Amino acid sequence: MEIIMETKLFDVTDLESAEAQLKEAASLLRAGGLVAFPTETVYGLGADAMNSKAAEKIYAAKGRPSDNPLIVHIAEEEDLARLTDVVPDAAKKLMKAFWPGPLTMIFQKKETVPDKTTGGLDTVAVRMPDNPVALALIRESGCPIAAPSANLSGKPSPTKWEHVYQDLNGTIDVILQGEPCRVGIESTVLDMTGEIPMVLRPGILTPEQIGRVTEGKVVLDPALLIHRPRDVSEEAAPAPKAPGMKYKHYAPKAEMIILQGEHSRVKEEIKRIKEEKEKQGSKVGIILFEENGFEQAAHDFFSQLREMDENHVNLILAGALSDKNSVGFAVMNRMWKSAGYHIIHV
Ligand code: TXA
Ligand code: MG
Repeated sequence: MEIIMETKLFDVTDLESAEAQLKEAASLLRAGGLVAFPTETVYGLGADAMNSKAAEKIYAAKGRPSDNPLIVHIAEEEDLARLTDVVPDAAKKLMKAFWPGPLTMIFQKKETVPDKTTGGLDTVAVRMPDNPVALALIRESGCPIAAPSANLSGKPSPTKWEHVYQDLNGTIDVILQGEPCRVGIESTVLDMTGEIPMVLRPGILTPEQIGRVTEGKVVLDPALLIHRPRDVSEEAAPAPKAPGMKYKHYAPKAEMIILQGEHSRVKEEIKRIKEEKEKQGSKVGIILFEENGFEQAAHDFFSQLREMDENHVNLILAGALSDKNSVGFAVMNRMWKSAGYHIIHV
């Protein structure tokens, strides 16, 4: 990647001793700069959400299509009033239950929210991250922070600051070097603008958990189900409602194949194919989680993909998780894309 500026690296693992750095990062944000920061889900690439020029820089740094809207991060519930006038009761309850946390909600946007931030949509996605560094940065900056995942568009989302460095060093102002992310996959995106809350992107926060707060009122974007590879071919599927869900995503450099079936069969087949392919000179990497280790899988998946690239693996064999479990489904939603829907049933 071309280095066009100096990216400052600030260690923020001890927040108290990093006060000056945090202040500097916040003031760069206010001045329209780009600051990568840790959240509990994945690292975000932040800019002042109310500043069109700043939001535009995010798209340039990531190589992101300009119709893919950004998530706006806030630190206090009151700040929501800067972004929307319409907060349904169900959203108020969900906020109480799950903010700060891995839940993004979509609202009608106020006119003052720039089109650049929302990819031209008249709605805005908002979340309050559950990470002390993220919250301190937002508070200190005094602005809502638009932040997509801090990776180059198309690459696996970053769960460690080192991943951000690999992708964006030399093109952004600051990387806050926090801890590795606790969750490991991006937030659940929930559309609150319709009659019934609709999950547009699955995450660690499940429809079951949401339903407990909304008297059972929650549905999945039908596109999520139709995109299950076994149902129909990808070409025949309708476009998902979250623009970001339609792009090629999370792709490692290696070819990737998912093996789906009974856990011990999958294990055997992976071993067999690995030996066969190695004989033919391939460098094979394996991604295989415990049968019911859904949260661990969410935590490790993106970082394992990046490790495969670093180790110059050219074929990844990955064991499918059960998508009947909601967290398993959230991980599989990413895994299917990483593998370009390349699946072998065993
Ligand atoms: O966990 C996360 O959500 C992370 C951290 C940094 O907070 N952020 C993140 O942002 O994953 P990003 O930009 O990589 O993904 C945002 C997703 C995309 O699929 C986008 O299309 C969708 O949210 N989205 C954003 N605003 C939307 C809107 N107004 N309507 C529908 N979908 C929207
Ligand atoms: Mg992303």
